[in-house]
Amino acid sequence: MRRWRRKYYDLFSTIYDRFVALHSSDKQGKLRSYLAEKTNAAQGDRVLDICTGTGSLLRCLTRRVKERGIVVGLDFSIGMLEVAKRKNRNLNSVYLIQAEASALPFKTNVFHAVTCSHAFYELRGETQDHCMEEVGRVLTLAGSFLIMEHDIPKNPVIRMLYYIRLMSMGASKAIQILRHEKAYLSGYFENVTSFKLPGGFSKIMVCREPLISDPPKA
Ligand SMILES: C[S@@+](CC[C@H](N)C(=O)[O-])C[C@H]1O[C@@H](n2cnc3c(N)ncnc32)[C@H](O)[C@@H]1O
Repeated sequence: MRRWRRKYYDLFSTIYDRFVALHSSDKQGKLRSYLAEKTNAAQGDRVLDICTGTGSLLRCLTRRVKERGIVVGLDFSIGMLEVAKRKNRNLNSVYLIQAEASALPFKTNVFHAVTCSHAFYELRGETQDHCMEEVGRVLTLAGSFLIMEHDIPKNPVIRMLYYIRLMSMGASKAIQILRHEKAYLSGYFENVTSFKLPGGFSKIMVCREPLISDPPKA
């Protein structure tokens, strides 16, 4: 199944940026800049963008961490990563890694911030749970996880299409999470806040203070 999902995204990568440009109201990519700003990442920090897709957020993140910082874009689709590589080829602080969001190939407590833009609700149920655990593990204790997502559409027809898309992606658990978002995220982070973005179609959930289920022994 996972292989077919990867193939789907490999194919999607050939038109992804054009598709986003067509239907998004955020023509200048202002929301991505806003997300990068909300990470509070500072010069020299390490930031991870999971499910990075074509890497549109990476440039905004490099502006925060500057040359001495590190920005890692992670995705399981080689097609998406190839586009991300072309788009970010002049950025020395950007590294691209092919991996599963539910099994992050990094040491514990290494990233100052982790971002996930318009992808978390597309993950399958068990992948979402493992991804939350993994993000909590790779973040520093003061680190934060920022999830940017579409808000639930107000128009009933668009809302139905939105739910159908999630179901077709096998992400039916996302619908439950959407209804109890704060409770779900609070199972992994002490401090969870959420706010709507300018334009009113998207939101950012900011998760701080990862809850450590298995603290390292002293
Ligand atoms: C809708 S795109 C979002 C891309 C990008 N974050 C953006 O905002 O444009 C979802 C991305 O998540 C990736 N993805 C989906 N499931 C994944 C998984 N289990 N592990 C890693 N990447 C995954 C896909 O390959 C795709 O690039």
